[in-house]
Amino acid sequence: MFNRLQQKWKVNGLQVALILSTFAIGGSLTGYVGRKLMNLFDIGPEWLWIVVYILLVTLLWPLAVLVVSIPFGQFRFFIRYLKKMGRRMGIISRESGVGSRELGAVKRIAIFASGAGSNAQKIIDHFREKSQVEIALIVCNKPGAGVLEIAEKEGIPALLIEKERFFRGDAYIQVLKEKNIDLIVLAGFLWKIPVALIRAYPGKIVNIHPALLPKYGGKGMYGQFVHAAVIAAGEKESGITIHYVDEHYDHGDVIFQASCPVEVGDTVAVLAKRIHELEHKYFPVVVEELIMRMDK
Ligand code: GRF
Repeated sequence: MFNRLQQKWKVNGLQVALILSTFAIGGSLTGYVGRKLMNLFDIGPEWLWIVVYILLVTLLWPLAVLVVSIPFGQFRFFIRYLKKMGRRMGIISRESGVGSRELGAVKRIAIFASGAGSNAQKIIDHFREKSQVEIALIVCNKPGAGVLEIAEKEGIPALLIEKERFFRGDAYIQVLKEKNIDLIVLAGFLWKIPVALIRAYPGKIVNIHPALLPKYGGKGMYGQFVHAAVIAAGEKESGITIHYVDEHYDHGDVIFQASCPVEVGDTVAVLAKRIHELEHKYFPVVVEELIMRMDK
């Protein structure tokens, strides 16, 4: 049950506990204050008393949970929760507030990753408080990959994909469409993207590569191999490239590049660390930039 709530509310385990406590205490507070207020008035028939009481607690409840949510550190969650309820009940118009058409509907990102997922984590952190963007899905091809732990910890649904279906089936397009994914971000995803998926998401799939493309890209050029090749060639600089994904490995139009020096004596690990720092600094902001452009 806890896991389901984490996924539904997109929060971690501790937050679920704090939110449930807020609900419980807020509910009790509502009942208590409601009765106290009712005692101040002398309301005749019992049925009328009940009607007035229900109306009163309905009005008091949002206020009570908001007050209780402050010491529990869950104010933002409850503001969003109440707005969502308000919209469902037709009290708040769908054209106002979070997720509105006016401000641009919430954009949903799927992150594809095969490894540790440090870039995925940075992107998740970056968008955590930005209600216009939701990291809606983590797609992974490798059981046990670190990124799956991140998905679990963050309460983000994860999809472990199979080779056969990805390359020779529907490439999971149906799942992505059902989940209303707007943008696919490849953050260390090692499988080539099938043409069908590229066509289903034209200009909506981006990748990060740990070198300055077009150099050191292509099949087999990933992770440590890239850095080893850069060092072996005696390059004075390397960097990162964020680019659109097309039918060839590391080939689509470049969106952004940033460079860093390659120092004499650099090992693969040292260079990898420097490159990761660049990725963590720029990838989330470039993704945000792309999302903003999608709104126009
Ligand atoms: C990054 O260096 C990225 O450029 C490459 O794969 C690596 C993924 O690292 N495509 P992490 O899993 O995000 O830590």
